[in-house]
Amino acid sequence: MGYWTVSSMAAAVVATAVVFAAVTTTTTTRGAEVAADEFRSGASFIFGDSLVDAGNNNFIPTLSRANMTPNGIDFAASGGTPTGRFTNGRTIADIIGEMLGQADYSPPFLAPNTSGAAILNGVNYASGGAGILNGTGKVFVNRIWMDVQVDYFNVTRRQLDDLLGRDRARVFLRRKAIFSVTIGSNDFLNNYLMPLLSVGTRVSESPDAFLDDLISHLRDQLTRLYTLDARKFVVANVGPLGCIPYQKTINRVEEDECVKLPNQLAQQYNARLRDLLIELNNGGDLPGARFCLANVYDLVLELITNYPKYGFQTASMACCGNGGSYDGLVPCGPTSSMCDARDKYVFWDPYHPSEAANVLLAKYIVDGDSKYISPMNLRKLFSL
Ligand SMILES: *[C@@H]1O[C@H](CO)[C@@H](O)[C@H](O)[C@H]1NC(C)=O
Ligand SMILES: *[C@@H]1O[C@H](CO)[C@@H](O)[C@H](O)[C@H]1NC(C)=O
Ligand SMILES: *[C@@H]1O[C@H](CO)[C@@H](O)[C@H](O)[C@H]1NC(C)=O
Repeated sequence: MGYWTVSSMAAAVVATAVVFAAVTTTTTTRGAEVAADEFRSGASFIFGDSLVDAGNNNFIPTLSRANMTPNGIDFAASGGTPTGRFTNGRTIADIIGEMLGQADYSPPFLAPNTSGAAILNGVNYASGGAGILNGTGKVFVNRIWMDVQVDYFNVTRRQLDDLLGRDRARVFLRRKAIFSVTIGSNDFLNNYLMPLLSVGTRVSESPDAFLDDLISHLRDQLTRLYTLDARKFVVANVGPLGCIPYQKTINRVEEDECVKLPNQLAQQYNARLRDLLIELNNGGDLPGARFCLANVYDLVLELITNYPKYGFQTASMACCGNGGSYDGLVPCGPTSSMCDARDKYVFWDPYHPSEAANVLLAKYIVDGDSKYISPMNLRKLFSL
């Protein structure tokens, strides 16, 4: 994964332009098929929070940062220097891109060199601390919330028109691009469960009213992406928040226990998300779109419950962090303690899975069965 792949893609673009010019006399449908075949390697457009941020937060004034050691210590493409990813290696989105044959990782939207042929790998808009709601993550001072991530995709959308021409850009997006959305955890961790710091109304809001709010905003956001030619979606549900080292530490639960309320809220949200995606797949509002649900909740819970089976030594301790029984209070940074066997920990830091866990999660989402990815896995979705 490096420069040569990007420049060979640029060469491919020039070559396809010639081929395409030669077939303009055929019908539109035929032309569209020719164009779709040219974009062999595919692309991911990535929306979400710190679980998939690839460095956007390096470019905004925020307290939610990971561009410091030892984050990224196992990230081969940077030689182990931090990139802004909130884990020791690749994020789940990086790994999924690799598995689907993407030529290079989707670069962060805010990086100054994310332009030209580089955007044919897709673009990453995710931002640590971000939520579905604008007010989520205020504690970090700044973050790119989901509405703005969609605004940013609208900018990329126009760049793709310039790069490929309107017809080919549309075919590229509809046929060869996966739109992944990994968001919602912060709407609980850094909003609903943190009422004093969140927007005033939250304090008195019932979970049901809050969930209505989340789902209706997410529906609008997915619909806006659709109007910009997104068709192949994968939406992750919220993981078992009550099992992360941070929650286990502050609530002082036993090693084999999780905190009930955050898990209950996640499950309530996940049930509503599942209904939304079923409706969008079956309803007539967004014809031609496919929405896959990545069941991250059950996947992470499986890793936590049966961690020895997957080769882990612990599913409760953070590898990098400090404080309390699980090193779950202080985020990972240069002064944190760090474990030796990083691939033996489910959690890299108080909040985020390790690369070893991300590899397993990605495997189930790309090639797994309907228990973890439905109504089809990403390999199938990509091939449609
Ligand atoms: C953009 O710059 C970063 C940092 O120098 C580098 O790692 C990355 O490979 C560059 N990306 C492209 C597409 O040139
Ligand atoms: C959220 O922010 C966007 C701009 O990013 C704005 O258009 C929208 O109205 C805001 N929504 C709410 C509920 O404040
Ligand atoms: C994208 O930007 C254009 C031009 O500013 C605007 O007219 C359009 O409504 C935007 N689309 C979405 C989905 O935000």
